[in-house]
Amino acid sequence: MERPAWAPRSIDISVPSVSRIYDYYLGGSHNFEVDREAARKAMRFMPGLPKIMQANRAFMRRAVRFAAGEGITQFLDIGSGIPTFGNVHEVAQAAVPGARVVYVDHDPVAVAHSEAVLAGNDDTDVIAADLCKPQEILTSPRLDRLIDLNRPVALLLVAILHFVEDADDPYGAVAELREALAPGSLLILTHASYEGIPLPAERAEGAVDVYKDIRNPLIMRSREEIARFFEGYDMVEPGLVPMPHWRPDSAPEDEDPYAFSGFAGVGRTA
Ligand SMILES: C[S@@+](CC[C@H](N)C(=O)[O-])C[C@H]1O[C@@H](n2cnc3c(N)ncnc32)[C@H](O)[C@@H]1O
Repeated sequence: MERPAWAPRSIDISVPSVSRIYDYYLGGSHNFEVDREAARKAMRFMPGLPKIMQANRAFMRRAVRFAAGEGITQFLDIGSGIPTFGNVHEVAQAAVPGARVVYVDHDPVAVAHSEAVLAGNDDTDVIAADLCKPQEILTSPRLDRLIDLNRPVALLLVAILHFVEDADDPYGAVAELREALAPGSLLILTHASYEGIPLPAERAEGAVDVYKDIRNPLIMRSREEIARFFEGYDMVEPGLVPMPHWRPDSAPEDEDPYAFSGFAGVGRTA
């Protein structure tokens, strides 16, 4: 298989990756046939998967604009993925010129492509790190250059926590990050769930199994389990809801039924 210039030498391009599969769902071009094959297999069970991803991105953009409207000028986006249309820095900097955005991902393609997209934008940076090691993120010189932890930050954990198994203590990592944030900071979060999927559970499980096969299991959590990530935060209205219901720009009833899979919410530290 030919290795394109954007694919770092360190990656095994014969193994599908979560970020490249997601890029494919969103219509991006940073994916390989192995990724497309895994995505198509999952879509045989859940044809509406791209609709879920689009609803997720649309929520993320509304939440970033909300944060900017609340006076937040610093954004920490962990599990930021491969940059595609309408990225956090574009939305944030359109709302607040000079807004500072730090991206974090553990996937080398996501990091390399973010570096390329962000070149020349001095108010942004990217860190290669793991959400499960919050101190590596919090003590990174790249974070320190752009983000003042004594002032409010919008922390984005958008479509990442469902890739972290309980054994890796996602609740502990989220709590450690919260403790580092100044009062008035926001947690912007989405998470996959069997709740809301417009299909029998066995069909949805078929799609989830594809991620198990590529050794990146998708951890479907209940609404109650997802709500626990907001411990120590006050929920911003309307609370933890299906993505199209979070402060919609247009009538949520017009959305595809798949868009109502999973949950989205924003919390504020006291
Ligand atoms: C589905 S994508 C979401 C991208 C973006 N946040 C969005 O919602 O459009 C999930 C991203 O999380 C990253 N990821 C998964 N587990 C991670 C971890 N433990 N630490 C850092 N990044 C992680 C993956 O590499 C992938 O790029």
